[in-house]
Amino acid sequence: MSKDAEDRALEAEREVGRINAFFPILPRLGNRWAASRPWEGKTIALNLHLTSLTAALVRELQLGGGTFIVSGASPATTHVGTVEMLRNEGIEVYTGRERDDGFASVLDHKPDLIVDVGFQLVNALLDRRPERAKATLGAIEITRSGITRLRKRTEPLPFPVLNINDGRLKNAVENRHGVGEALWQAVARLTGMHLSGRRVAVLGYGPVGKGLAMYARAAGMSVEVVEPDPVRRLFAHYDGFVSPDLDEALSRAGVVVTATGRPGVLSVDHLAKARSGVVLVNAGHGGNEIDVSSIQAAAERVDHIGEQVVRYRLENGPRVTVLGGGHPLNIVTNAGSPEPVLLHFAVLGLALESLATGDFPAGEVIVPDAIEAEAAAFALHALNPTAT
Ligand SMILES: NC(=O)c1ccc[n+]([C@@H]2O[C@H](COP(=O)([O-])OP(=O)(O)OC[C@H]3O[C@@H](n4cnc5c(N)ncnc54)[C@H](O)[C@@H]3O)[C@@H](O)[C@H]2O)c1
Repeated sequence: MSKDAEDRALEAEREVGRINAFFPILPRLGNRWAASRPWEGKTIALNLHLTSLTAALVRELQLGGGTFIVSGASPATTHVGTVEMLRNEGIEVYTGRERDDGFASVLDHKPDLIVDVGFQLVNALLDRRPERAKATLGAIEITRSGITRLRKRTEPLPFPVLNINDGRLKNAVENRHGVGEALWQAVARLTGMHLSGRRVAVLGYGPVGKGLAMYARAAGMSVEVVEPDPVRRLFAHYDGFVSPDLDEALSRAGVVVTATGRPGVLSVDHLAKARSGVVLVNAGHGGNEIDVSSIQAAAERVDHIGEQVVRYRLENGPRVTVLGGGHPLNIVTNAGSPEPVLLHFAVLGLALESLATGDFPAGEVIVPDAIEAEAAAFALHALNPTAT
């Protein structure tokens, strides 16, 4: 191993240690798996983003026996240190060309169980190794995009696929608290603004918008919500937020954040009414909620005034600053606490345990309440040993 790879593996090791020190949910699960060995004798393929959080998960899963094969879900989220750290622990890791080759190398290991992010590995199994698919015990899908791909398949699935994206915990903890906390942390860090006293318009009042509004208020911001759905506007009202229309909110806001899941909700045409100096931020996954190209096209001057901070002077209009190029800012800047993801991984581990030992019908199965309740109990214990 090169010196550089060795250094990065050590860095990943240290990162995993730090993550576990303050929220030891995964090591506690690891203790249980070391005792019960739920996947003894089985082969498990994990197609995941290879970050230090994933390394923390794989390290504990391994204690439950079995053989783990890992592939990187995307080159953009594959960290060299994580790959080296896993390889040092004797785990086979596929990245780059081997991974892109239809996941053939991963499937050559004949996995009994699969954990997937984006349903690419499961799709490869179903399309290219239908015989092997019949012998597969089950799979887990983590993401909304993966579930969308799963539901596009026309033929019945030969094994159960546990959908852990649509459980109760992800919406309530990761979408609401995870994004709410992380996004404002990123805004403060990139701009140096103290958030207290700033006026913000939150576009969209789903779980993500609700978290953004709540954390903005906690930071001392004055919050308005723009939401077309009257039911959600009523929720915003009872949560204590006024909900004007977009033009009115823009006439006051110093910061606008989008969380709608819809493209082009904020384009240059809307900004005619905006205050000069307004800061635009997106939290939605698409990265296209703010129509940055329309702003760029109408700009008479563009200044890159910091990392991920671009200021546009619009012709006959306001000055507008876009953070993170309109991509989801918490993700682009890797901001926020790792706890929501670790909790999600705890659900994943417990779902894998159930899949290895339990009896689920073939097809999509929403993660059962009992698994989430157990993950929540582990989380409470990791947060405060006296809480359970
Ligand atoms: N950044 C992250 O880490 C992260 C994490 C989870 C989800 N997301 C993404 O955040 C987005 C929102 O997620 P959610 O679960 O709250 O979605 P949701 O669909 O429950 O809520 C979106 C809300 O936006 C409203 N809306 C639609 N068009 C609008 C418009 N033009 N102006 C104002 N409001 C409008 C809808 O009525 C709805 O209430 C999605 O794209 C989701 O994928 C991001």
